[in-house]
Order: sequence, then structure tokens, then C-alpha cells
Amino acid sequence: MKDPADEGGCSIRIRRFKPEDINQIKNVARAAFDSEVDKYWSVVGALRTPYTYIAEICGKIIGVIEFELVYLSRSSEGHIGYIFVHPEYQGKGVGTALLKKAEEILYRRGARRIWAVTSPNNPKTRRFFEKNGYREVSTKIMKKTLGSNNTKKLLRRMVYFKGDIIHVKELSSN
Ligand SMILES: CC(C)(COP(=O)(O)OP(=O)(O)OC[C@H]1O[C@@H](n2cnc3c(N)ncnc32)[C@H](O)[C@@H]1OP(=O)(O)O)[C@@H](O)C(=O)NCCC(=O)NCCS
Repeated sequence: MKDPADEGGCSIRIRRFKPEDINQIKNVARAAFDSEVDKYWSVVGALRTPYTYIAEICGKIIGVIEFELVYLSRSSEGHIGYIFVHPEYQGKGVGTALLKKAEEILYRRGARRIWAVTSPNNPKTRRFFEKNGYREVSTKIMKKTLGSNNTKKLLRRMVYFKGDIIHVKELSSN
């Protein structure tokens, strides 16, 4: 596995997505996901999601995060769509750096919670969210927190299917 810190003296840079990044993003998605559905929708998401940020090293894209604010009746909730890192750079803190960037931006835009959904067959990603302070909750807990209609609206945005894992983190200013 490559150590980003050793790469040509460049450090990791997190920046906003530009349309010309799309071919490199396709390559990262192809390498990071097994499922054809994720390979496809993660690239479409980069173009369509309100916020897409990339991690690059010496001009090479190695990771992507896609997120949005979902406006509900009583609050604005953060939602992480896709996050993916090229396998050669996984486990080196790139995903955490992308997640921190999303959390900072969403907090500044008024979100006090961030939500994400993962498949039950993705234990590595479950651990990744857990390590970053996210806890797993049921739809019942979501309804208690947000109310029934708001929960339905948010679950639709999250493309939640029965059996998926829901992660949430309460955000604070630090
Ligand atoms: C999930 C993912 C984005 C995490 O990014 P990352 O840069 O590997 O994560 P970090 O290095 O910041 O954090 C590492 C922690 O995440 C977990 N982790 C998840 N995937 C890992 C991997 N392939 N290698 C090592 N650690 C991984 C571990 O708990 C690890 O902590 P540890 O080393 O103390 O055990 C990345 O592994 C990935 O792209 N996975 C495939 C795509 C995917 O399933 N995305 C999520 C659904 S959208």
C-alpha cells in the first residue's frame, strides 16, 4: 500500500470537485467498488450532489466524498452520499480527512447531525464510520429524533433499503 506522505514530497490536498476531474474519479470508483451499481452511481453522484470534494496528491485524485444538506421541517440534516478512496491509498487517513472536510462544511451551513447509510456486507466501512465518531441507529430512533415525516424524507434521500445500516454523528463546533 502506498504511503501518501512518501509520494514525491507532495502532501494530500482536499479541494472542491471540478468537472474536468470526472475521468480520474471514474478510475478511483472502478478500483474502489466491487458493485457495478456503486461504480456507476458514485460517478453520477460526483456531478449531481451539491457538494463533492476530492483528495489529491501531486495532482492525482485518490479519494472522493459527496454530501448534501437535506432541509426538513425542523432542521437541516447533513447526509454523506458516497465516500471512496483508491485501494492503494486506503487505511492511511485519506477517508478521515475527506469526512472531516464534509463535517466542517455541513456544520458551517447549519447541520448539527450527519447521516450515512452503508450496506450490512461492508464491515470495513462500518468500522470507518465508528472510528470517526458515528453510531449506528435504527429507523425507530430516527423517528424519535426527527419525527415520522422527516424520517421518511431523509431515508428517501439516503436511498435506504431495509436491512441497511444507518450511521449518525452529532456535530459540535470543535
Ligand atoms: C471506507 C473508506 C472510504 C475509508 O477510507 P480510508 O482512507 O481507507 O480510511 P482511513 O484511513 O481514514 O481510516 C481507516 C479506518 O477505516 C477502516 N477501514 C475501512 N476500510 C479500510 C481499508 N480498506 N483499509 C484499512 N482500513 C480501513 C478501519 O477501521 C481503519 O482504521 P484502523 O486502521 O485503525 O483499523 C475506504 O476504505 C473505501 O473507499 N472503501 C471502499 C468504498 C466504500 O465501500 N465506500 C463506502 C460506501 S460509500
